Amino acid sequence: MEIVLSGIRPTGNLHMGNYFGALQNFVKMQHQYKCYFFIADLHSLTTHPTPADLHGNVRTVLAEYLACGLDPEAATIFVQSDVPEISELYLLLNMNAYIGELERTTTFKDKVRAQPDNVNAGLLTYPVLQAADILIHKATKVPVGKDQKPHLEITAKYARRFNQLYKVDYFPEPEAFNFGESLIKVPGLDGSGKMGKSEGNGIFLADDPKVIRKKVMSAVTDAGPTVSNQDMTDAVKNLFTIMDIVSAPDTVLHFREKYNTCEIRYGDMKKQLAEDIVTYLTPIREKINDIYNNNAYLRKVVGIGTEKARESASKTLREVREIIGFRAF
Ligand code: ADP
Ligand code: TRP
Repeated sequence: MEIVLSGIRPTGNLHMGNYFGALQNFVKMQHQYKCYFFIADLHSLTTHPTPADLHGNVRTVLAEYLACGLDPEAATIFVQSDVPEISELYLLLNMNAYIGELERTTTFKDKVRAQPDNVNAGLLTYPVLQAADILIHKATKVPVGKDQKPHLEITAKYARRFNQLYKVDYFPEPEAFNFGESLIKVPGLDGSGKMGKSEGNGIFLADDPKVIRKKVMSAVTDAGPTVSNQDMTDAVKNLFTIMDIVSAPDTVLHFREKYNTCEIRYGDMKKQLAEDIVTYLTPIREKINDIYNNNAYLRKVVGIGTEKARESASKTLREVREIIGFRAF
């Protein structure tokens, strides 16, 4: 059976981009594939969180995973740092990762720009750790948003390189995956290309309705179309993209027609959009609060997940060590 794996760095609450780019796919896939979903807490160390923030963020993401419908009976749900085998595979893969190619990775260049005072080696080798996450379970499908494509290409390259170096057919080459469609990018409400944590333009799964309405009502638009079927500005296109995701098809059609005939009132569209987002997120928000405070349940979920993840990871590591030439006397 094909193996699916994905993770999210715990840096605070998850937003709609994380949900529609990644989480929603996790939920859809968990009953059809053998799935591993984890919290990438080692990756989050690249930004130096405080110990209290680190733990709190892991708890938040775990509660949000479960509230969105991840089922610990169906999928293996675990925390990256609970599986030390990943760190050992990361060390081994680093020997076949070249500095030049890591420096050229677009995500690394973005990080250097974003945090010029903290360009640590962990940031440079971030994709190697991500490759270890994926290869340790021999996953072939990785549900992530569009921005993660470069990391998946690097992982496939390292799988190939390992196989060639040791003349084996051991690691499969994984691919970025979106259930049934192309990779998704949820835009920002500020007219920017991407909704993101660091972009500061997120609508969070845990936001209450008042906050959601306020954020949507202040979304960037333009002066409105003046000729029929006018091309849309990026900001307005973004509003429609989000509406496509959360609203009923005839609602979207209604506002598209209004736009094309120059009768649109962005205020009305935003009100509708805000209500549709609230309807979508309310059941999720309610569950997040319950689960976040249920320590016994969280401990149980992580206990089961760690055991399953380590079983698979230690098997791979044993085989990799054998292939590389570490032999017992
Ligand atoms: P952020 O950009 O807020 O820091 P992450 O980079 O931690 O979010 O992303 C976690 C997951 O969510 C990844 O799979 C990523 O591809 C996905 N994701 C994040 N933002 C978006 C977005 N705006 N649209 C689609 N997917 C996204
Ligand atoms: N880099 C991913 C992100 O920022 C998180 C991640 C770490 C990941 N390891 C992974 C995603 C393995 C998929 C598979 O979102």
